[in-house]
Amino acid sequence: MSNIEIIKKLYKNYTKKYLNKILLSVFFSLLVASSTAMIAYLLDPAIEKIFIEKNKKLMILIPIAILFTFVIKGSSLYMAKVILIRVGGEVQKTLQQQIMSSILISSVEKINKKHSGKFISHINYDAGLVKQLVTTTILLFTKDALTLIGLIGVMFYQNWKLAMFAIIMIPLASGAAKSLGKRVGKVTTEAQEVFGFLNSFFLEIIRNHKIIKIFLRESYENERLNKIISKFKEKVIKIETVMMRATPIMETLTGLMIGGLIYYSGSLIINDELDLNNFFSFLAAMMLAYQPVRSLATLNMGVYQDISAAKRLFPIIESNNIDINHGSILKLDQSDIVFKNLTFKYTEANKSTLDKINLTIKYGEMTALVGHSGAGKSTILNLIPRFFDPQDGEIVINGKSIESYSLKTLRENISLVSQDTTLFDDTVKNNIKYSKLDATDEEIAEAARLSSCEDFIKDMPNGYETVIGENGLRLSGGEKQRISIARAMLKNSKIILLDEATSSLDSETEEKIQNAVNYLKKDKTTLVIAHRLSTIINAHKIYVIEKGKVVAEGNHESLLNSSEIYKSFYLKQLDKNK
Ligand SMILES: Nc1ncnc2c1ncn2[C@@H]1O[C@H](COP(=O)(O)OP(=O)(O)O)[C@@H](O)[C@H]1O
Ligand SMILES: [Mg+2]
Repeated sequence: MSNIEIIKKLYKNYTKKYLNKILLSVFFSLLVASSTAMIAYLLDPAIEKIFIEKNKKLMILIPIAILFTFVIKGSSLYMAKVILIRVGGEVQKTLQQQIMSSILISSVEKINKKHSGKFISHINYDAGLVKQLVTTTILLFTKDALTLIGLIGVMFYQNWKLAMFAIIMIPLASGAAKSLGKRVGKVTTEAQEVFGFLNSFFLEIIRNHKIIKIFLRESYENERLNKIISKFKEKVIKIETVMMRATPIMETLTGLMIGGLIYYSGSLIINDELDLNNFFSFLAAMMLAYQPVRSLATLNMGVYQDISAAKRLFPIIESNNIDINHGSILKLDQSDIVFKNLTFKYTEANKSTLDKINLTIKYGEMTALVGHSGAGKSTILNLIPRFFDPQDGEIVINGKSIESYSLKTLRENISLVSQDTTLFDDTVKNNIKYSKLDATDEEIAEAARLSSCEDFIKDMPNGYETVIGENGLRLSGGEKQRISIARAMLKNSKIILLDEATSSLDSETEEKIQNAVNYLKKDKTTLVIAHRLSTIINAHKIYVIEKGKVVAEGNHESLLNSSEIYKSFYLKQLDKNK
């Protein structure tokens, strides 16, 4: 996207609806501009009538007029700014909302690709820069451009020859600043990257603080942190230095201008072409013009910076995210879930994780996947709710590929307890009812009872209302798992996916939960990734997965005879249980 396109888009999608407010702000800018011009103009009668003609009446009136003009200038400037600050705030809010909701509905893959710290820097840093584009830029454009026009008017009014002289100097100044703008944009992009990195780093340090402590890596992390912070500092210094580079150029040009002007006006006064009162008014106008000229000349530096932020945000906001309502409605009858010749490769991986998988998860039965870690079991399970899509082959429900159903209806039918339990920093109750927001207290208690949560919830300081901390910080591994099982049970969906859902539980608790699952399982299609004997023996069908392939299938008895891998797996488990 070119810069012009970005600005057009920004106007069309974000600022157009505040046009009335912006116009109001422009009106106040107009007042600022005219009062500034008025101040310069008033010096002309002030000198002529008061100092030269010694008019006593005007000696009072003109200072009052000057005071009055300043008051108008000040309050208009306040109004013009406040209005734009509000518009900017709205634009920033909209951007932040859009980024958030875009991230919410983007694919698992897209989210996995970026570190969470990067997303945070888009929301904090970039959205703030784009806001500036609206507030600062519009203000500078209107207020300063109008003020400049007003002051140039005064200059021409006082003496057109001098005015022509001054005007020639203006393009010179802006030309110098222009070349700096592009550089600022580039450095800003670099700074944003480092900022994202910094965020990611902070997040990891907090998240992994125990690991850092046990391996005594405080000074190691400190060093890494110092490097990143120093890098960030360098970028920030660079941006601000480049921005400041305009100052000496501008000051030199101004000096040149005023020096030249005094020389030129001196010769005009000597030739009687200019009066002193006109000269002073002109000089005031020119001095007052200094600020808007400088702002306008350096405006593009900030603009480049802000546009480069918009360039990073728009692709995120506009990316083709998934529409969960797209596709036909999945009505689960008594259908199996069938994997047909399915091959899957993670984008980043260099070889396929799943290779021509064929398996059937029968309706109303429990199917188990068994295999070494890294075999691809979780991957198989994650393909069912379509966190990822296969490159080849398909998963079929009701005779159609699951890709033809809407994600909404597909996922409505699935409960998942994933390998890594995920909880929110909220109350126990809200964590359980996350799967069914309108659940009654009875339903929640029932789910908690079936997943053996009741006992430990009762012992918590506020029972169901206890806040459990970031990702269940204040719970044990087993407690976390039980809450996530309760959550899945509450959903009461037709398809249940359990990915080592009971791995952190002792065998007694596991058995209780297993019984509950068995009880709930009627009419439900269950796929479990199991590592415990009890679960496996209960399964109607077991698939042995090895290096992304199905290497054996059958029930417990038949596999003991037919699969060496299964047998050794079973024997090892037996040993453990002894
Ligand atoms: N998001 C991912 N990106 C790339 N590779 C992955 C990803 N998740 C898992 N893998 C790889 O896929 C293989 C299978 O992983 P997984 O299905 O989690 O195994 P299992 O659940 O059987 O232990 C592993 O080699 C793992 O490194
Ligand atoms: Mg796994």
